Amino acid sequence: MTSAAAGYAAVHAASIADPEGFWLDAARAIDWDTAPQRAFDPQAGVYGRWFPDARLNACFNAVDRHVENGRADQAAIIYDSPVTGTKLTITYRELRDEVAALAAVLAGFGVGRGDRVVIYMPMVPEALFGMLACARLGAIHSVVFGGFAANELAARIEDASPKAILAASCGIEPTRTVAYKPLLDAAVARSSHKPDACLILQRPQAVADLTLGRDHDWAETVATAKAEGRTAAPVAMAATDPLYILYTSGTTGKPKGVVRDTGGYCVALAWSMTNLYGVAPGEVYFCASDIGWVVGHSYIVYAPLLHGCTTVLYEGKPVGTPDAGAFWRVVAEHGVVTLFTAPTALRAIKKDDPRAAKIADYDLSGFRALFLAGERADPDSVAWAETALGKPVIDHWWQTETGWAIAGNPIGIEKLPVKYGSTALPMPGYDLHVLDEAGKPVPADSMGTIALKLPLPPGCLPTLWGSDDRFRSSYLATFAGYYDTSDAGIRDADGYVTVLGRTDDIINVAGHRLSTGGMEAVLAAHPDVAECAVIGIRDTLKGEAPCGFVVLKSGVSKEPAAIERELVARVRDEIGPVAAFKLALTVERLPKTRSGKILRATMKAIADGQSYTTPPTIEDPAVLEEIGESLKTRGIGA
Ligand code: COA
Ligand code: AMP
Repeated sequence: MTSAAAGYAAVHAASIADPEGFWLDAARAIDWDTAPQRAFDPQAGVYGRWFPDARLNACFNAVDRHVENGRADQAAIIYDSPVTGTKLTITYRELRDEVAALAAVLAGFGVGRGDRVVIYMPMVPEALFGMLACARLGAIHSVVFGGFAANELAARIEDASPKAILAASCGIEPTRTVAYKPLLDAAVARSSHKPDACLILQRPQAVADLTLGRDHDWAETVATAKAEGRTAAPVAMAATDPLYILYTSGTTGKPKGVVRDTGGYCVALAWSMTNLYGVAPGEVYFCASDIGWVVGHSYIVYAPLLHGCTTVLYEGKPVGTPDAGAFWRVVAEHGVVTLFTAPTALRAIKKDDPRAAKIADYDLSGFRALFLAGERADPDSVAWAETALGKPVIDHWWQTETGWAIAGNPIGIEKLPVKYGSTALPMPGYDLHVLDEAGKPVPADSMGTIALKLPLPPGCLPTLWGSDDRFRSSYLATFAGYYDTSDAGIRDADGYVTVLGRTDDIINVAGHRLSTGGMEAVLAAHPDVAECAVIGIRDTLKGEAPCGFVVLKSGVSKEPAAIERELVARVRDEIGPVAAFKLALTVERLPKTRSGKILRATMKAIADGQSYTTPPTIEDPAVLEEIGESLKTRGIGA
């Protein structure tokens, strides 16, 4: 450990040596209905539970207490929407009133403690009101990203069995309006579970037809509740009660419902705002993600609001709305101190504005740091941003499962030296090890699987929705006593962590986590496809892009190019545009081992133009050349 890291080192060491003391101390940032006497119960749940004896309400902590403590007139949310030309400031008092009225509406639909509510909405303030209204009632929200198609939404409705669904009539992408209501209707039709009520926010860009008896107009219903003075008060929940379920890609087509508890999450997020991000209450925080992702849940919604900050809700893109200066405009205009985005967004900005001319157009003197996560931050982009901004650029590593950073550079404690390509050091409570296949620690600078010694710290998932068994088999079975991150990585002699990529079939496309297994299931269902393989190939903008190889059934007479187009359309229709599946290649054969395993890693090496050794177990080495030739016809590979 370097001497510069002493402050961090003491904090991390304390969290591992005395987790009870460390997290009870951190818990003082939260207002409890029943304050915790214990931090952790190792006997409860799958691997133990945080704050087993405490009670709180997350919405009260994120909203009401700030109204009571002098922030009533401070901006809670700044909604900045270049795609609709709207800017709106919502104070904490206004937020409380909106959320309390919406919660009353939900209660009127019969939604209460423990009920699930699916939220399928774009980046509009009402989506945040919806999440917080659920939290107020002790209902469990499950937000589904707008870029997913009806099938994916249906799978989530089926699994979560929501009592109500909150949706908007449409989302707005720079080049088109995406009507959400037909997708919602198709998803409900496909699901065997039907919600009692849907509350639909009508947006003028695409007004939806409402289904009589099931759908309610958001604006009218909430206005009536307000006119009648109906509000709902925060309900004291057990700290161990779920706050939300967030579905994420698993290695099978069936998404995993990551459960987030209430107390541990609030404590971890509050700790992170001060210590990891170095942000004070009252300051403006801008997380340019989407509420459909974990980063959006934690750092657009809960963490900034728990901390009494102003959160920027940005409905736009890093480029094209209108240009590559969009983020810097938002930072300057709203007095943002910290921006959190994905490396892919930075690459998009760099591509459009390589000389960083747009940065000079804005006064960024109040801006302090740029944080990156969601995929590996490539050193070129980090160096470009550091030079262009003249501010720290901090990479940190996360998963949907953990809810907050596993490793990072806690500038609120001390700014550790930045090493390009590395996500720095583990955050408190993360006892991080790099293990070989047998579960033995590997030496410094050697690659292995990154595993976290149990228990996981507060904020991390206690289980998967409705499936302790899948939680155990997916994460805890590989290495006894550890959580398997499914990320490969190395630690150097200073303990710095470098995340190299997934050890499973998950790929990361523009910071979005996708399952190649899920895409393969769609391709395999095409009547002309005999077998298929989907791999992630290198993409200069999106990091990775999916590429599907298909072998057609014998006797198929249709043009391969026509089938390829149908396959691209199928993935878009069934998974969604977010899959960015644009490349399907018909091939004669797939490379396989003699035992029939498809050699995906070798195919990826060929596509990425990397050197590879022909696996000794290969059935027929000539297939690799065929794959290389086929890729070359599309200008891919060396
Ligand atoms: N609703 C509907 N469709 C959506 C959508 C949403 N919320 N979000 C994305 N899509 C669509 C896009 O319109 C695009 O459709 P197209 O194939 O018709 O062009 C497709 O899904 C793929 O989107 P994306 O991968 O985002 O590519 P893009 O070319 O539109 O934009 C970037 C590229 C880099 C600007 C964009 O990916 C970006 O800002 N990424 C940051 C990601 C991020 O913040 N991740 C969170 C993790 S921290
Ligand atoms: P998600 O669950 O969508 O947040 O995706 C989590 C996955 O994204 C991780 O398992 C990593 O593979 C990858 N990831 C997230 N942040 C980083 C990072 N800073 N560096 C490298 N990979 C990252």
